Amino acid sequence: MDTNLARAAAPEPEEDFAASLIAGLSRQPKQLACKFFYDAEGSHLFDAICAMPEYYQTRTELALLVRHAGEIARLIGPDIEIVEFGAGALTKIRILLDALERPAAYSPLDISGDYLGQVVRALAGDYPALTLRPIVADFTQPLAIPALAGAPRRAGFFPGSTIGNFRPDAAAALLRRMRATLNGGGLLIGVDLVKDPRRLHAAYNDSAGITEAFNKNLLVRANRDLGADFEPDGFAHYAPYNSAAHRIEMYLVSLKRQSVHVAGRRFDFAPGEPVHTEDSHKYTIEAFRELAAHAGFRPRAVWTDPERLFSLHWLES
Ligand code: AVJ
Repeated sequence: MDTNLARAAAPEPEEDFAASLIAGLSRQPKQLACKFFYDAEGSHLFDAICAMPEYYQTRTELALLVRHAGEIARLIGPDIEIVEFGAGALTKIRILLDALERPAAYSPLDISGDYLGQVVRALAGDYPALTLRPIVADFTQPLAIPALAGAPRRAGFFPGSTIGNFRPDAAAALLRRMRATLNGGGLLIGVDLVKDPRRLHAAYNDSAGITEAFNKNLLVRANRDLGADFEPDGFAHYAPYNSAAHRIEMYLVSLKRQSVHVAGRRFDFAPGEPVHTEDSHKYTIEAFRELAAHAGFRPRAVWTDPERLFSLHWLES
């Protein structure tokens, strides 16, 4: 089994991080791109978030996958290459792989090469007959995935409501690009739903402080990888729900007047000054189906849990 990591043509992650950090801190208001949460350490912190009692999303989506695996497998069909965007821990794919008829191949894309390498080795051990093609890639960038031998039909898998990180116009553009990558194949996508704002607030403000550590990992990573001198305790994790925009907004708020150095540059922070680090948009089922249609997909089946916390959509090309 070849589990070597292919790297899509793109700048090295550290270069990209440095350039993006400097550009984001030069803006007013300051911002950092949430994709940089996911180095190996951040990916592990995110796994810890998924296991928290307040973070209903992961367990709800897993239960939907388990419950509807047979129907999903029939819709996807046999002899398929699954392309997963932002594959993370490779937990959810196992449910699909176990249900699919003769899966031809699995191509997980992830931005963290270190982490992808770790989790792919474990998956290869459990699925020795499966053709595995891990790809280190930032799926927010244009991306061409070469056809495998025999050019199997493709289906996309984009669980976890990662789509929520994008503003609706950017989300539609991303779905459009994914649709092109899938060569006529469908997309199975997980989408978090609008709900009681108190429930949303709790999911991003856990009492154990794991989301805080995940948010501050951007600063820790900048210190470690770029030699920056952020004082993580000099910033507060702040994640309010913006109910008019249907999204959680995550910030690191400077607790004092301070200066930070990154790659020979100085950035000044006023007391109370925010750095925007993430948006997590929530949809109604109808609004998401409209967005998918706007991106050129034909929304077909949709599954949700009895509490309507989370949704899983099968979109045809
Ligand atoms: C991986 C983008 C789906 O928005 O819920 C979790 C990331 N941020 N807690 C989300 C996240 C803070 C997560 N997504």
